[in-house]
Amino acid sequence: MKKHLTSLFDFNGQELAAYIDRAIVLKEERQQGLPHDSLAGKTVGLVFEKPSTRTRVSFEAAMYGMGGKVIYLSGRDTQLARNEPLKDMGRVMSRYVDCLVVRTFGQEIVTELAKHSSIPVINALTDQHHPCQILSDIMTVIEKRGSLTDQKIVWVGDGNNMAHSWIQAASRMGFALTLACPSGYEPDPEILSQAQKEAVKPIVLVQDPEEAVVGADVINTDVWASMGQEDEQEARISIFRPYQVNGYLLAKAKENSIVLHCLPAHREEEITAEVLEGPQCVAFDQAENKMHIHKAILEKHIQG
Ligand code: CP
Ligand code: NVA
Repeated sequence: MKKHLTSLFDFNGQELAAYIDRAIVLKEERQQGLPHDSLAGKTVGLVFEKPSTRTRVSFEAAMYGMGGKVIYLSGRDTQLARNEPLKDMGRVMSRYVDCLVVRTFGQEIVTELAKHSSIPVINALTDQHHPCQILSDIMTVIEKRGSLTDQKIVWVGDGNNMAHSWIQAASRMGFALTLACPSGYEPDPEILSQAQKEAVKPIVLVQDPEEAVVGADVINTDVWASMGQEDEQEARISIFRPYQVNGYLLAKAKENSIVLHCLPAHREEEITAEVLEGPQCVAFDQAENKMHIHKAILEKHIQG
């Protein structure tokens, strides 16, 4: 078991499945009112250089729910904002806390911190990856559909951090993934080709969202402009318009398909309010499952 979780490619399929298996048990036990204290006496440092509602609160609730404690640091409150070297930050934080959960811009920030930390470093979103989110999304797929490897999962929209982590998950966990992205907004070709080389089921990139969703069990979308891309918001709205997940697109998928959205959602942009609030959408279950997955991640990485 690797110390850090920087991207899903840090782990094999069995190790990824183990997070989900443990999260399912922790969720059931919580529903039965059973207390957890496996992280008593441990402290996690959350260093967030971008905004967050779900990831921050679900990591904090996860840590408290396992008997541990949390210190939250927004990027602007640390010396990182004044260019303190990451290698110093990593070494110093390792003296105070038992694990670092980091949300930041470049993936290299997480890998550099990991390199210089003697404690586990967990990626809570970078421009390139959102690995913890995809684990909770896959947990939700398993809960709602009863299986994973026989599912056709479709990504509609930007080839962004979420898409990259889905690609890596498909490759390591062995499910079919089709991505429909506009020209110029495809996933990183290196991440895609590396994943395709290892994959046992097809990972396919197309441009036409209608073609992609035929026979889909799971349709998945995300905002058209991610954090840090606010300047591109207007331009992206017109480019991405045909990629909206709406009733018309949903009707082309399997009748019992489910719709995933990691939230926050922009209603009437990437998804209509009708679909987001409709019976096929499981976005709020996904949001809950983030807390259970984060418990499993913290437990595995802190306990070793
Ligand atoms: N899904 C997700 O990561 O949400 P937040 O940005 O609110 O953490
Ligand atoms: N792709 C989005 C995900 C938000 C949870 C972003 O990076 O802003």
